[in-house]
Amino acid sequence: MKNKKVLIIGGAGFIGHNLAIYLKKRKFDVWTVDNLKINNLAHVKKNIKNKNQKKLYLSFLKDRLKLLKKNKIPLKICDVSKKSKILKIVQNFKPNIVIHLAAVSHDSRSNTNPEEAFENSQRTLFNSLESIKDKKNSHFIYFSSSMVYGNFKKKVAFEQDTCNPIGIYGSLKLSGELLVKSYSNVFGNKYTIVRPSALYGERCISNRVIQIFLENAFQRKKIFIKGDGREKLDFTYIDDLCSGIFKIVKDQRKSSNRTFNLTYGSARSINDLRKLTKKKFKNQIFVSVSRNKLMAIRGTLSIKKAKRMLKYNPKFSLEKGFEKYYRWYSKNYANR
Ligand SMILES: NC(=O)c1ccc[n+]([C@@H]2O[C@H](COP(=O)([O-])OP(=O)(O)OC[C@H]3O[C@@H](n4cnc5c(N)ncnc54)[C@H](O)[C@@H]3O)[C@@H](O)[C@H]2O)c1
Repeated sequence: MKNKKVLIIGGAGFIGHNLAIYLKKRKFDVWTVDNLKINNLAHVKKNIKNKNQKKLYLSFLKDRLKLLKKNKIPLKICDVSKKSKILKIVQNFKPNIVIHLAAVSHDSRSNTNPEEAFENSQRTLFNSLESIKDKKNSHFIYFSSSMVYGNFKKKVAFEQDTCNPIGIYGSLKLSGELLVKSYSNVFGNKYTIVRPSALYGERCISNRVIQIFLENAFQRKKIFIKGDGREKLDFTYIDDLCSGIFKIVKDQRKSSNRTFNLTYGSARSINDLRKLTKKKFKNQIFVSVSRNKLMAIRGTLSIKKAKRMLKYNPKFSLEKGFEKYYRWYSKNYANR
């Protein structure tokens, strides 16, 4: 049997390139599409002012491209907010599975510039869905977010809980979920919606919590903690997420037309992360600042459904993932 074809839209991003490599190593035929502009090369060149930071981020981004090349994964440079281009790519490649990652992947950036968020999240999603609507056997995987839940009402959020997003990012994600389901109702394609949270791992440049803790610590800068540090996040190591997506694409019957939380499944506090950081960097200074009220208060995302239906089995506790990421960062940071 021929290898399944997977098209990853937003495939040069943090999740995209790691996932592309993960799937390629497991015998999928993978293509990636990206415009390299949003939270990628063009953005870093234009907007990061600090020279060392810019050099570091550009080197991580170039490493992503080198890794795609080394693993023989084609990257099609394309602005997916333009419909005709993505239609052509899909016509040429004829993917069995399309994974849609392209977005403005930041909550705060989406609030600051809703139009940019709409064009690169919603318009790109619409075009991706259009590109496969007449391909009945295709399977569409949409990356939503824990932000769809809004402020968690309980410690643990389940897939069937009422969603009540606060900011533009979460609202776009939730409306994206509805659009994906409607396309499936109308045109008959299969879909899976995944809701990840607080990811970390190699070559991330997205200013996410663990990345910023390590980056500031290595640079001997203060670490700012928003709030009292008791807030909890379901920190998820990138390999765990990739292993979950692998389960989804391997046996599509089990994941079709369903929504899954895909995290480590156990939230940990910022103070836990502070302790882990302090063990590595004895003189690290932490400063408390007030938290942004538009950032939803979150917690654990239940992964019971993914465990039961997909046999998803995440392996990286915060301690284990932090250690792996720390080692990678110390090796790579020291060399740049
Ligand atoms: N990283 C996380 O913790 C996290 C958590 C929950 C959900 N998500 C979602 O997962 C997806 C991927 O996240 P990520 O962390 O890899 O983000 P990322 O910003 O690293 O990757 C997104 C990629 O999409 C590309 N892109 C954006 N607009 C495009 C366009 N118009 N045409 C072509 N390419 C375009 C960008 O250039 C970028 O490379 C996003 O939808 C994000 O909202 C991420």
